[in-house]
Amino acid sequence: MSRHDFQIPVSFKHRVCFTRGAFAAGNSLLSEILAEGGGRRVLVAVEESVARAWPELTRRVESYFADLGFDWRGLHVLPGGEAVKVDDLLVRRIWEAIDRGRIDRHSYLIAIGGGAFLDAVGYAAATAHRGVRLVRFPTTTLSQDDSGVGVKCAINGFGKKNWIGAFAVPFAVINDFEFLHSQDEETRRAGLIEAVKVSLVKDGTFFEWIEQQVERLAALEADALEECVERSALLHARHISEGGDAFETGSSRPLDFGHWAAHKLEQLSGFALSHAHAVAVGLALDTLYSARYGLLRECVAERVIDVVAGLRLPLWHPALELRDAAGRRRVHEGLEEFREHLGGELTVLLLREAGVGQDVHVLDEGLVDACLDSLRDRQVASDAAMVSPRG
Ligand SMILES: NC(=O)c1ccc[n+]([C@@H]2O[C@H](COP(=O)([O-])OP(=O)(O)OC[C@H]3O[C@@H](n4cnc5c(N)ncnc54)[C@H](O)[C@@H]3O)[C@@H](O)[C@H]2O)c1
Ligand SMILES: [Zn+2]
Repeated sequence: MSRHDFQIPVSFKHRVCFTRGAFAAGNSLLSEILAEGGGRRVLVAVEESVARAWPELTRRVESYFADLGFDWRGLHVLPGGEAVKVDDLLVRRIWEAIDRGRIDRHSYLIAIGGGAFLDAVGYAAATAHRGVRLVRFPTTTLSQDDSGVGVKCAINGFGKKNWIGAFAVPFAVINDFEFLHSQDEETRRAGLIEAVKVSLVKDGTFFEWIEQQVERLAALEADALEECVERSALLHARHISEGGDAFETGSSRPLDFGHWAAHKLEQLSGFALSHAHAVAVGLALDTLYSARYGLLRECVAERVIDVVAGLRLPLWHPALELRDAAGRRRVHEGLEEFREHLGGELTVLLLREAGVGQDVHVLDEGLVDACLDSLRDRQVASDAAMVSPRG
């Protein structure tokens, strides 16, 4: 018998940048970043809705690379949104473009779009030639404040969120604030929930800042929105790079606070409910549960729920009432699916205070149900107040 254990140390540089007008003449950020890698061949994928919102974008991108003398392999305008994660059509189109464009591991694939588009394009990039260099340009609040700086990508499989995917550190992430301002208001506002999430698990001071700024954030005031996005993205990136488990080999996933119910709710709604809205509900649920379980002071839970409501995000969705033949709420199935997705022991992060989490390994189903009932009642009361405001 013989056994040999080798260590294979691998280290990645995670380049996270913030700018405005990345493709404008005189903005050298992107060219400097690409120069670090040395490759000259470039292929671009732009999400349709972004190309529509920025009619000059495709021409600007093309002339940007032409002026710098890059080996231009084309620009593809492709669909995005949650639908592109349901099957592998977009992934295949990207693979084809990579193949036809002779994109190799030293070339660059530049992807410009929302979180769902970047997830699907990222998966194609991570798997073509076992990984070509991807430069992400996230264009939504959520993708700039959270998913864009993530080191993973996925599409759905077997009806489950993000079942097929890979861990892959992008070559660079460029958050161009200009893109934020063309999203519809609801998408722009909803993505802030991931900033609330990361503040609750990582940085109580940031939570207090969000609380103070909630009206300006809800009104989508540009400077508040951009500051919130940047602080959130950096907290996410710091956790990924310094948290000791970038590729999620352990069972604890603080950045997935509120997500066990969110992912199930997205699925139960047939993916009609956006990720951000589902996270709002899931975050409210796990916050309330933290309080009722005795970990978090009730008054802090109330402040969190006020922030969610203040951002005009939902606390409830009718799919939470879907039940199986035995009368059990189907959302509970999300807990086992969450465990399976993570592997190992079920680990759910709850809150001890704003900015401090605590892992637990069991959730009491009856208590979850009581919290859900309470969120439903709050939503009903707030909807009624909206319909007939009293003076
Ligand atoms: N990989 C990760 O680490 C990670 C982390 C969190 C979330 N996610 C995933 O991110 C996805 C959600 O991303 P999202 O919230 O960006 O939603 P999204 O990608 O569905 O975009 C929302 C909508 O905005 C449109 N859009 C995008 N940018 C625009 C712009 N600048 N102007 C106008 N319209 C624009 C899109 O076409 C879409 O209709 C989910 O699938 C979620 O699972 C991934
Ligand atoms: Zn999320």
